[in-house]
Amino acid sequence: MENMELPPRPKLFDFHGVSMTHYFTDNWENIQNFQARPDDILIATYPKAGTTWVSYILDLLYFGQTAPERQTSLPIYERVPFLEYPHPSVHTGTELADKLSTSPRLIKTHLPVQLVPKSFWEQNCRIVYVARNAKDNAVSYFHFDRMNKADPEPGDWNNFLQRFMDGKMVFGPWYDHVTGWWERKQTHSKLHYVFYEDMVEDTGRELDRLCSFLGLSPSAEEKERVRGGVQFDTMKKNSMANYSTVPIMDFKISPFMRKGKVGDWKNHFTVAQNEQFDEDYKKKMKNTTVQFRTVL
Ligand code: A3P
Repeated sequence: MENMELPPRPKLFDFHGVSMTHYFTDNWENIQNFQARPDDILIATYPKAGTTWVSYILDLLYFGQTAPERQTSLPIYERVPFLEYPHPSVHTGTELADKLSTSPRLIKTHLPVQLVPKSFWEQNCRIVYVARNAKDNAVSYFHFDRMNKADPEPGDWNNFLQRFMDGKMVFGPWYDHVTGWWERKQTHSKLHYVFYEDMVEDTGRELDRLCSFLGLSPSAEEKERVRGGVQFDTMKKNSMANYSTVPIMDFKISPFMRKGKVGDWKNHFTVAQNEQFDEDYKKKMKNTTVQFRTVL
C-alpha cells in the first residue's frame, strides 16, 4: 500500500451549477437513469454530516438480526452503495446498487436535491437526510480532504474555510444543500430530516424517531443493541464501519472516524474567522427556516 501509485488530486469544475470532480460525474448517465424501487431508502447528506453513522444504523435495523454475517464480512460502503461512486475497476455505485438482492436497498448519495435521479421521486422512496452545522461540517470536511486523496487538495485551513464559504466544494455549497433538502421536505412527506447534533445529544431518541418514520418497531433489547453498536468508539474500532479498508484514504494524516463531536470547530476557527463566518452565514441563510446548533 505504501508504494501504491495514486492518481493526482482531481480539480473542481462547474457541473449544472454545482462544483464537482470528475469522479462523481464520470458515470452520470447511469446515475440519472438509475431505476429506484419503491422500497429503496435513500440516505442523503452533505459530505461529512454523519452519512456513515446513519447508514450503519439503518443497516443494523434492517439486517442486524437477519444477516449477522454482514457485520464481520462486508464493509459499510458495500452494504450501502454510494450512488455517485465511480470505481470502474471494481464496480460503480449504480452497478453495486443494481446487484443488491436485499430488500430494502439502502443507497447513499451526496447529491444536492435538484440532481437526485428522478426515479427516487417517481417511486416515492423514503429518504433520510442528515444535516450537520456548517462549522463542524467544514472542519470535518477539511480533515477528510487532507486524508482522502480522491478529493481536491484542501490547502491550509484558512483557504479551505474561504472555499467552503464560497461554495467551491465537491457537491457544492453546504448552504444550498441543507436548505434545498429542507425545502423539499415540505412537499415530499417521506423525507426525514435528521440533525447530527440531535443524534449526538440523544441517539436513542433519534433512533425512535427514525424507526417511527420507517415503520419499524424493534424490541427494546434490539434497539439497545443497535444504539450500542453505533456509538462513536465502537464504530471507530469496527473495520467494517471505519473505512480503514479504503486504500485512497491515509489514516496517518487523519482517521475517518476522527472526533465525532459537536463544537470541535472552536479548536479551528480563530475569532476573526468566526465573526466573518457568522456574518456571511446570516446573509446566506436569511431566507430559510432551518436552524442549526453549533454547541450542545
Ligand atoms: P468528525 O470528522 O467531526 O469526527 P460522513 O460519514 O458523512 O463522512 O461523516 C463523518 C463524520 O461523522 C466524522 O466527523 C465522523 O467522526 C462522524 N461520525 C461517524 N460515526 C459517528 C458516530 N457513531 N458518532 C458520532 N460521530 C460519528
